[in-house]
Amino acid sequence: MSQERTTLIAGNWKMNGGLDEVDGLAGDLAGRMAGLAAAPGFELAVCPPFPLLPMVASAIEESGIALGAQDCHGNEKGAHTGDVSAKLLAQVGCAYVIVGHSERRTDHGETDEQVRAKAEAAQAAGMAAIVCVGETEAERDAGRATEVVVGQVVGSVPEGATAENLVIAYEPVWAIGTGKTATPQDAQDMHAAIRASLADRFGAETAAGIRILYGGSMKPGNAAELLALADVDGGLIGGASLVADDFWAIGQAAG
Ligand code: 13P
Repeated sequence: MSQERTTLIAGNWKMNGGLDEVDGLAGDLAGRMAGLAAAPGFELAVCPPFPLLPMVASAIEESGIALGAQDCHGNEKGAHTGDVSAKLLAQVGCAYVIVGHSERRTDHGETDEQVRAKAEAAQAAGMAAIVCVGETEAERDAGRATEVVVGQVVGSVPEGATAENLVIAYEPVWAIGTGKTATPQDAQDMHAAIRASLADRFGAETAAGIRILYGGSMKPGNAAELLALADVDGGLIGGASLVADDFWAIGQAAG
């Protein structure tokens, strides 16, 4: 974590959470933010399922917690049944959109090209894209982790990246929901490789401002160690983001 990048702790609720979580989780977190004596040294974001977005937006209003969505379409509008446009997400208050999560790359066969179009759409609507990348266990075992991840960054990140419109989330697929995490050394090495790739393309100054989150079984017990790494600028949290105490503790570990 660097002084020039505000640590971002983003909760990806995935296909979890219902009406009870609007107040029970988002409202609870907003109350904790309001109770802080000083401005926190971290930024919190929650990314609930689409139908909850407007209600969660109300629950976190003026709390300083940011709202994010879990996907958007690459086109501005049109005949795409079941998809949601970036413009609508911005209208209901989203500041972030997660794109290219490995679960979408697997479940929906999303390619780097599609992820890039989604990221571009999110940015064009005034939001920051959280572009997810990560290798499978087989790719890591074959010694190809860095090649795969940097390849995804090159393929999935649109031109014109800035510190304001882009966040990268490095999520090793084998660490998601498994209780396994990358070692601090492996995480730092991968984050540094991602930043070097961004620097090649966008310049060192821009790359130095772009936040690179770690995701994959981040919990209160391992967050401090991961968040202390030089190039780890926050976390994209799945399971632990569904428990207010755990998500809050990860924020505290950052701040
Ligand atoms: P877990 O924290 O449940 O491992 O999920 C990580 C993730 O996929 C966040 O996008």
